[in-house]
Amino acid sequence: MIFYFSGTGNSQRTAIQMSEILGDEIVSMNKYLKKGEKDTFHSEDPLVFVAPTYSWKMPKVVDGWIRETKFEGNSNAYFILTCAGSVGNAAAYAKELCAEKGLCFCGLALLIMPNNYVALSNTPDETEYKGILKKAGERTASLAALIKKGEPFPEIPVTFKDKIVSGPVNGLFYTLFVHDKGFAASDACTACGKCVKRCPLNNIRLVDKKPVWNGNCTHCMACIGGCPAEAIEYKSASRGNRRYYIMED
Ligand SMILES: Cc1cc2nc3c(=O)[nH]c(=O)nc-3n(C[C@H](O)[C@H](O)[C@H](O)COP(=O)(O)O)c2cc1C
Ligand code: SF4
Ligand code: SF4
Repeated sequence: MIFYFSGTGNSQRTAIQMSEILGDEIVSMNKYLKKGEKDTFHSEDPLVFVAPTYSWKMPKVVDGWIRETKFEGNSNAYFILTCAGSVGNAAAYAKELCAEKGLCFCGLALLIMPNNYVALSNTPDETEYKGILKKAGERTASLAALIKKGEPFPEIPVTFKDKIVSGPVNGLFYTLFVHDKGFAASDACTACGKCVKRCPLNNIRLVDKKPVWNGNCTHCMACIGGCPAEAIEYKSASRGNRRYYIMED
C-alpha cells in the first residue's frame, strides 16, 4: 500500500508512478489530514510512504499521521523522500519511528525532484523541471524494482553536518520559518477558493472574498504554488519566484 503526502505534486506523482508499477493501492494522507480522520489500514504488500523533505527530514505532519495510524498485515516499511537535493539524516528518524510503531524499516531513499519552496527560494524553469522529472521517473522505477524483490533501499551515508541539519537546524527551522503570517493575497485574487480546497491542513478560509490564513501551516506551498491568479505572496520573499504546482486535484 502506497501512502503519500504532497504539497505541490512531486510526491503525489511519485506515488502514482509507484502504484502503477507495483499494481498497488494508493492512499492520500492529504485527504485524511484535511478531514482530521484516523483509520486502520490492512495491507498484504509492503507499506511505502512517499513525502517531501522539509528541512532535511520527513514533514512533522507526516510523522504525526503515521504515529496515529494503525497498520495491519505486512509490516515492512519503505520511505521515499522527494527533495531538491538532500535529506540529511532523515533515515535515522524514520527508523526510530518504525521501531516505535512495530514496523520493519526497509530503508529511506531520496528522490531528487524540482524545488517547490516558492515562498523562500526560486524554483526551476520549465525546461529544467521537465529534465528533473524525467530522471525522477527512472529512479522511481528502480526503487520500485527493489520493493518488488523485497530488498531494502541502500543506506545513505551520513555526515556530521547531516546530523546537525536534520536535528537542531530542523527544530529551529520550524520555530523561525514555518508560520503563515507572511502569506497575503493581492487584488489579483478572483476568490476562486482553490487555495481553501487544496490546503491539506484546512488552514485557509475566504473572508470577504479574500483568503485568510488561520495559524496552522506546514509550509507545503499548495496555496502559493497553486493559485491560478498568482495572487499569493509570502512577505516580499516570494516576489518574482516562479510558481510551482503539478498536483492532480
Ligand atoms: C518547507 C520546505 C522545506 C524544504 N526542505 C528541503 C530540504 O531540506 N532538502 C531538500 O532537498 N529539499 C527541500 N525542500 C524541497 C521539497 O522537499 C521538494 O521540492 C519536494 O519534492 C516537494 O514535494 P511535493 O511537491 O510533493 O510537496 C523543501 C521544501 C519546502 C516547501
Ligand atoms: S487560489 Fe488564488 S485566486 Fe483563488 S481564492 Fe485563493 S488566492 Fe484567490
Ligand atoms: S496554508 Fe498554504 S502553505 Fe500552509 S499548509 Fe495550507 S496550503 Fe500549505
